[in-house]
Amino acid sequence: MKKQILSGIQPSGILTLGNYLGALRNWVKIQNDYDCKFFVADLHSITVDQDPEQLRKNIKSVIMQYLACGLDPEKNTIFIQSHVHEHAELGWILNCSTYMGELSRMTQFKDKSKKQENVKVGLFDYPVLMAADILLYDADFVPVGQDQKQHLEIARDIAKRFNSTYKKEIFKLPEGYITENTAKIMSLQEPTKKMSKSDENKEATIFLLDDRATVLKKVKKAVTDSENVIKYSEEKPGIKNLMNIYSAVTDKTYSQIEEEFKGIGYGKFKEDVASAISDILDPIQEKYNQMLLPENDEYIKNICKKGADVAQKIAQEKLKEVYEAVGFVTK
Ligand code: TYM
Repeated sequence: MKKQILSGIQPSGILTLGNYLGALRNWVKIQNDYDCKFFVADLHSITVDQDPEQLRKNIKSVIMQYLACGLDPEKNTIFIQSHVHEHAELGWILNCSTYMGELSRMTQFKDKSKKQENVKVGLFDYPVLMAADILLYDADFVPVGQDQKQHLEIARDIAKRFNSTYKKEIFKLPEGYITENTAKIMSLQEPTKKMSKSDENKEATIFLLDDRATVLKKVKKAVTDSENVIKYSEEKPGIKNLMNIYSAVTDKTYSQIEEEFKGIGYGKFKEDVASAISDILDPIQEKYNQMLLPENDEYIKNICKKGADVAQKIAQEKLKEVYEAVGFVTK
């Protein structure tokens, strides 16, 4: 039996280089070795305001970006979270096994709620839904970036508590699958902050669909320091971030990069970083544009439908076990 993998991305905009290097690229690498489920986390995305028409477009676009990045729909179960209503149902049950105190400690909630005028209950409750996503499918590993680590830990805590309350090993305890150097790609404008889809400053983020000229412009404007020395150091967050990205897209080590750019200034380094990023993005964009053709509409719909059917069968079984354990009666 192959080990189970599950992960998802919110359709809150075009995916970023951070999403790709921190998560999606790893999904593609492991798709042959595990039984993988990848979904679009649309239920999560409405924890902050979304424009309905834009959201509809984004959901479809994220599926196409998954495929363009190399996820094979024959090998993986690809689906849209809201197509499997068991996620929301298990979320409710798990709400009743989660403490307010532990949710209050989530750093992402603290950060995101600061940016909201009226904080929604859903934003506070979001890690519980994420726990439900993971626990429904007995995931062994969850490939994510660094920012999701705390949410994974709470998913484990909730699973442990539920199993112990109902004296049955209903849920498997999931492990993270996090690759060190790419786990946190930083903003180009504030390199001590995570690169994010929803950053208001679009110059801070490289999107998977940015063309070569845009990538070059953004990387050239990236905030660095005045030393003009390419060296991997905690004291040089801007250069460290660009070196991390360059290393991830070229497979060169930090010392190889330092050697390559010895005595060469930031201008040329930035040009080479931008060009290496675009070399990775070009084929993704080519496939994405192919997918946009109207004749592929049915193909994409079918992938999501087939994926949701497969996922729902498993989710239903798990939810049945949970309902029995908590003491609900059958129809
Ligand atoms: P989301 O949509 O914010 O991000 C999707 C994935 O990309 C990773 N990531 C990054 N990695 C490196 N550097 C960055 N700058 C960067 N920005 C984002 C994230 O860590 C994530 O892996 N809650 C999740 C979605 C979700 C989920 C789940 C994930 C819902 N249910 C169950 C796994 C399992 C989220 O908001 O990801």
